[in-house]
Amino acid sequence: MPSLLSNRLTKWALGPVAALVDQRISRHTAGLRGEITELRRKQHGVSMLLDRTGRGQHRMPTPEQIDTLVREVRAVTDAGERARRNVTVAYRNVVALEALGVGRMAGGTSNVCGKLATVPLLARPQGEEHGAPGGLDVLEIGTLHGLFAAALMRMLHRTGIEATLTIVDPLAGSQLQPGTSDYEEPTGTPVREDVVRANLALGGGRPGTGARIRQGFSEDPKVRAEVSDRKYGVIVVDGDHSFEGVRADLEWVELIAAPGGVVVLDDYGDGRWPGVKEALDKHLAGGDSRLTMVGRVATSAFLRAR
Ligand SMILES: C[S@@+](CC[C@H](N)C(=O)[O-])C[C@H]1O[C@@H](n2cnc3c(N)ncnc32)[C@H](O)[C@@H]1O
Repeated sequence: MPSLLSNRLTKWALGPVAALVDQRISRHTAGLRGEITELRRKQHGVSMLLDRTGRGQHRMPTPEQIDTLVREVRAVTDAGERARRNVTVAYRNVVALEALGVGRMAGGTSNVCGKLATVPLLARPQGEEHGAPGGLDVLEIGTLHGLFAAALMRMLHRTGIEATLTIVDPLAGSQLQPGTSDYEEPTGTPVREDVVRANLALGGGRPGTGARIRQGFSEDPKVRAEVSDRKYGVIVVDGDHSFEGVRADLEWVELIAAPGGVVVLDDYGDGRWPGVKEALDKHLAGGDSRLTMVGRVATSAFLRAR
C-alpha cells in the first residue's frame, strides 16, 4: 500500500518534468527528420550529377580509390605531389566535360582519370615544327564521342602544351568492337563526327587549328598513309580491342611514334579485354620494339618510344 501511494505521488510530482522531456524529444526528433530530409535532398542533387545514369559508369570514387590512383601515377611519373593535383584536376575535368558535353568518356573513373593525370606528366613538347613553341602532336586511335580527347587537350594545355590532335575512328554511328555484339550505348548519343566536333570545341589545344578527324579503321592502308605524315609525341591506342587489332595498332605505332613519345594502351589488364594485354606482352617479348614499358596506372599501360 505505501509503495502504491509513493508511485502515484512520484508520477504526480514528475508529471510536468516528463511532459517537458516528451516535448523536447519530439522537437529533437522533428529536427533530426528535417536534417535527414535536407541531407537526402542534397545527396540526390550530387547523385544526379555523378551517378551512372546516361553514361554507364558513375563518377563517385572512394578516397581509397583516389589514393591508389595517386600512388600509381607517382610510381610511373616520379611526379611527387603533382600526382594528386593532376588526379584531382583530371577528375574535375571528367565531371565538367561529361556534364556539358555530348555523350560520355569510356571507362571507369580511375581508368579515365589515370590517363588524363599521367599523360601530361610524361609528355615532352616536340618544339616549333609541331605547331607552336611547346607544340605536341597527339593521335587518338578510337575516340567514341571525342570527350576524352577534349579532356586530354585541356590537361595538356594546363601544363603549357598547345597540342594538335589527330583522331582515327570509323565513327560509324555506334561503337564497333570485333567479337562483341551490338553495344547498347548508355548515353543514347550516336558515334558521329558532328558529335566529336561538338565535344572538341570544349577542349584545349592550339587555337585556330581544328583537330584532324580521319574517319576509318586504323588498319586501313589509306588511313595510315594519310595519318603517317608526322611523328606523334602522344599516341592513345583505344580502338579495336581484339588481340589482332591491338597487335596491328602497335606495329603502326612503332613507325609513327616520335622519339621520346608516350604511348598509352587503354584497357591493359582489364579482364573484359584479354586480347589487349596479350597483344602488348607478345609485342614487347619480340625484343625489337622501340617501345619500353614505363608502367601501369589503373588499367592503362604507359610506354616510351626510343
Ligand atoms: C573504347 S572506345 C574509345 C573511347 C575513347 N578513347 C574514350 O576514352 O572515351 C573505342 C572506339 O574505337 C572505335 N574502333 C573500333 N575499331 C576501330 C579501328 N579498327 N580503328 C579505329 N577505331 C576503332 C570504336 O568504334 C569506338 O568508337
